[in-house]
Amino acid sequence: MQGDYYKTKESVEEYIQLAKDVNGKLLIEKLKQVVPSHSTILEIGSGPGTDWKILKQFYDVTGSDNSNEFLNHLVRNYPKGRFLELDATSLKTDMKFDGIYSNKVMHHLKGDELIDSAKRQNEILNSNGIICHSFWKGEGSEVFKGLFVNYHNVTTLTEVYTKYFDILSIEDYKEFDNNDSLLLIARKK
Ligand SMILES: C[S@@+](CC[C@H](N)C(=O)[O-])C[C@H]1O[C@@H](n2cnc3c(N)ncnc32)[C@H](O)[C@@H]1O
Repeated sequence: MQGDYYKTKESVEEYIQLAKDVNGKLLIEKLKQVVPSHSTILEIGSGPGTDWKILKQFYDVTGSDNSNEFLNHLVRNYPKGRFLELDATSLKTDMKFDGIYSNKVMHHLKGDELIDSAKRQNEILNSNGIICHSFWKGEGSEVFKGLFVNYHNVTTLTEVYTKYFDILSIEDYKEFDNNDSLLLIARKK
């Protein structure tokens, strides 16, 4: 669930400016330790395409988003790229992937949506497929710039993902402040 922030031209342009110096290079280094290069990767919530561009250097990557404004931006900037309109919860695609990656997207899902998304991710992964998702670390939830934000910790992530995945690691890392983020890496059961 989300408000309009990622959906209007003005706010998408604002977000692209605000996030221009942020990228998931270090997270993708972790992904590379468990998913061989040239594998097929789905990115959920590609947004401006910053991480998509890094993933593209190593993988056969498909970008996706549920915002038409971001999808238009992606297609305009990367005309040779493959992008799907996908919602993170329903993930309505017939494609299958070796890995699924997202960077600061899944925190927009409410508790039951995150569980439905985990089940669906299990279904669209090839056997032994890997997920790699980052989250804001903390307790509870809030609405920020009209967007729902659900904070997570090791316990909440373990509860959600254990049914469909073997958790390989849940590690703290620093996005802006020490230990403000968590990276989950898990393998399809
Ligand atoms: C913080 S940005 C991600 C930035 C991206 N990782 C990058 O490399 O630039 C969050 C993105 O998730 C998308 N998003 C939010 N909720 C979503 C949902 N339910 N399904 C799919 N995409 C979603 C937003 O439209 C936005 O593009």
